[in-house]
Amino acid sequence: MAEFTLPKNSKIGKGKHFPAPAGAKNPRTFKVYRWNPDDDANPRVDTYEVDLAACGPMVLDALIKIKNEIDPTLTFRRSCREGICGSCAMNIDGTNTLACTKAIDDCGKKDVPIYPLPHMAVVKDLVPDMTHFYAQYASIKPWLRTQSTVSPDRERLQSPEDRKKLDGLYECILCACCSTACPSYWWNGDKYLGPAILLQAYRWIADSRDEDTGERLDDLEDPFRLYRCHTIMNCTRTCPKGLNPAKAIAEIKKLMVQRRGI
Ligand code: SF4
Ligand code: SF4
Ligand code: FES
Repeated sequence: MAEFTLPKNSKIGKGKHFPAPAGAKNPRTFKVYRWNPDDDANPRVDTYEVDLAACGPMVLDALIKIKNEIDPTLTFRRSCREGICGSCAMNIDGTNTLACTKAIDDCGKKDVPIYPLPHMAVVKDLVPDMTHFYAQYASIKPWLRTQSTVSPDRERLQSPEDRKKLDGLYECILCACCSTACPSYWWNGDKYLGPAILLQAYRWIADSRDEDTGERLDDLEDPFRLYRCHTIMNCTRTCPKGLNPAKAIAEIKKLMVQRRGI
């Protein structure tokens, strides 16, 4: 996928250097994007040398070590540490991924660059502003929509075959790695829903229990919300959960064609 591009209008200033502790057995350098809206006119990149002999194996371990032992001002999001919550998504070693599942040993660059997710407004340091992304998610009404009634003591059943159609969709953790790797989303993210939200939209369209398929497709029938996808495939290449949002988008487009009878 494309290398990280700096946020709009940013000029990187000279950063601070935190050398490895005396006697470090296995030092590795991390170059980390820093910006504090309260103090900094421009962002900078700080350099941290971390002794990997006394650090866990993942990039998130290094960030936690930096925050705990070297520089408590460093700000980033994390929660589960298991690739489940999606909150530690960032651009590491030139790729959008999860800090908790990215092994330091798998970073190819000698000095590991760590930036926030590309083309998002930055709240502070490695924390992107997800407000618009979540509003787009809410816009697809991501819950089971039904008109029929079932008795309150009954579940809405689904055959094993229909349940299988949700594989590759329900695992999405909404980390936004794919959307922030998508050039169409970079340039038209105000109107284009992007791969993460479209994969989520398809998750409900594909659900045999949902009864609002027509309305869901109507909502996506728009030159921007769906059709800005140009099959560039950055989204699928970068997904840290191995999902295929480009395929989900293609499935939605196929349904649009089918219902027009083309
Ligand atoms: S499709 Fe993959 S990259 Fe995109 S939001 Fe879901 S888990 Fe993250
Ligand atoms: S396939 Fe579509 S959604 Fe995925 S990166 Fe390309 S344009 Fe974006
Ligand atoms: S901390 Fe939850 S996905 Fe990384």
